[in-house]
Amino acid sequence: MANSDRPLLAGDGTNSDISNEREAEEEDALLTRQNTNRSNRPVWREYMLLGWALAATIALVVLAVFYQHKQTTQDRSNDTDSPKATGKRNLIFMVSDGMGPASLSLTRSYRQYEQGLPIDDLLTLDEHLIGNSRTRSTSSLITDSAAGATAFSCGKKSYNGAISVLPDHTPCGTVLEAAKRAGYMTGLVVTTRITDATPACFASHVHMREEEDSIARQLIGDHPLGHQVDLLFGGGRCHFQPRNEGGCRADGVDVISMAKDKGYKYIHTREEFDSLNGGNGVKLPLLGLFAFADIPFELDRRNQNDVYPSLEEMARTAMSALAAATTDNDKGFFLLIEGSRIDHGGHNNDPAAQVHEVMAYDRAFASVIDFLEKDDTDGIAIGTSDHETGGLSIARQLQKDYPDYIWYPEVLSNVSRSAENLAHYFKRGPHKDNLTSEIIQQEIEVGLGITDWTSDEIASVLSAYQGLEGAKYELADMISRRAQIGWSTHGHSAVDVNIYGSSAKHAGALAGNHENTDVGKFLHEYLDLSLDDVTEDLKMKTQLEEWAWMHVSGPGKSSQVSSFAKQHGSDSHRLQIEIEETDRAEL
Ligand SMILES: *[C@@H]1O[C@H](CO)[C@@H](O)[C@H](O)[C@H]1NC(C)=O
Ligand SMILES: *[C@@H]1O[C@H](CO)[C@@H](O)[C@H](O)[C@H]1NC(C)=O
Ligand SMILES: *[C@@H]1O[C@H](CO)[C@@H](O)[C@H](O)[C@H]1NC(C)=O
Ligand SMILES: [Zn+2]
Repeated sequence: MANSDRPLLAGDGTNSDISNEREAEEEDALLTRQNTNRSNRPVWREYMLLGWALAATIALVVLAVFYQHKQTTQDRSNDTDSPKATGKRNLIFMVSDGMGPASLSLTRSYRQYEQGLPIDDLLTLDEHLIGNSRTRSTSSLITDSAAGATAFSCGKKSYNGAISVLPDHTPCGTVLEAAKRAGYMTGLVVTTRITDATPACFASHVHMREEEDSIARQLIGDHPLGHQVDLLFGGGRCHFQPRNEGGCRADGVDVISMAKDKGYKYIHTREEFDSLNGGNGVKLPLLGLFAFADIPFELDRRNQNDVYPSLEEMARTAMSALAAATTDNDKGFFLLIEGSRIDHGGHNNDPAAQVHEVMAYDRAFASVIDFLEKDDTDGIAIGTSDHETGGLSIARQLQKDYPDYIWYPEVLSNVSRSAENLAHYFKRGPHKDNLTSEIIQQEIEVGLGITDWTSDEIASVLSAYQGLEGAKYELADMISRRAQIGWSTHGHSAVDVNIYGSSAKHAGALAGNHENTDVGKFLHEYLDLSLDDVTEDLKMKTQLEEWAWMHVSGPGKSSQVSSFAKQHGSDSHRLQIEIEETDRAEL
């Protein structure tokens, strides 16, 4: 990596040579906008610094002349850090759904414990921290993923539940749609249903996120502006197939056939994914739906690697495919990559499931950095979260006495199965009609690695296992209490979330504390796109009768939307779908 590409907060305190010290000073200066003075240098180093200063002055003069020339010839804005695109470039936007700062501390320490790493071992994300983001929506101080992703896709705030529509119920043009219009190739890679809120916000417009039947059609180009997305990887076959054919669409439309008619190649198995050969020579457009609903948690998926690809594998394949497809274009690609189920680990209050989701996301992030370093085309990656989930805290007081300062990663490393997966096994597995305390004890010992269970805990699992959520909250709580990990909600929280960037040089505009809409604005500014034209076009086209199905019909529209937005913090529809999905998953 070139010096100037070093992430803003990458200093690790172990720098010893002069150039690293200089970098550290530059980083300090960038952060504080003041010069720093690191004293106690030996005399020979003063001479070297003097030499360097002379060279730097000459270089500065040369640069100043060059820059002035560039300004007059290109009529650029006066900001050297302007993200405006001047040549071919790629933009990879990464979303860690539901990942707050505490998830990073949890995962960093867990990984150090589990892999015997030193205390200065960091996640790749840690080395690329740039700033943080404020997340509220227009309808609440606590956002959901729909309003969160609308802030990224349109650069505008909206209400909880909104899929790239504004509070006045008009659609807003997205960075992906504007990129497509400008000639970029586009992609969406996620681990939930591809019709879930985050991916939906980039290439569809509906008033309520639960309108996933409508979202599915728009994603494959049955969209007011036509074909938008060239590559889609994720779960969610459910909303692409009619109910009577094993899917869950109410309207009987076969959206997979529709996609094929529009030229998509459709794949859904691990074998078909592997035959993409890492993305070389892949024909686009391509629709890959690898699960009926969500792809299983990484903690469970790694035992079913022959069934589901990992986030990193999907990310690498997508980047190679899009890079190859744009080789001869003068525009690059826009790609969304989402670690979608960090959020679900938070909703379930399952710290073991969550650390594996975050590690999987970190590996995907590292693969993006790796791609950007090797690829010839200019490009950057920006990563952030839509919100925090669970009110996660890396501490838990279990009794009245003043607590010890400790939490226990070893408890998490003994867990080999998510609470959700085990709860599902109890609810739908071979013992569903005659589950006994003995079976629960046995499965908890094997799956959660907990041998000191109490009879009260077993009783609460037994009484909860046939309910809507099964016993996943009870099982997750057994893990959290033993690890001394705290949670304050099964929903989302309002804490600020981190912003990451592949390069501090290009993403300098996002340093510091920002509104989530600033992230959205940065995305389309980096690609030099105007979203207003797309918005105008969308408003016009969606007036037409043929797009009536996009809208919530009837006079009750507004109240329907607002009551949905009000109760939507609970993501209740999502939980129902999750249960439907796991019904079909292998036990
Ligand atoms: C350029 O700088 C001037 C003076 O500092 C400022 O008024 C103007 O808005 C800047 N232009 C842009 C495009 O940032
Ligand atoms: C983890 O599992 C090992 C092996 O079963 C066991 O000896 C150990 O006590 C467990 N640790 C915790 C913290 O439960
Ligand atoms: C109880 O569960 C076992 C599976 O372990 C099954 O074979 C058996 O038929 C069940 N008995 C009843 C009474 O449902
Ligand atoms: Zn959520």
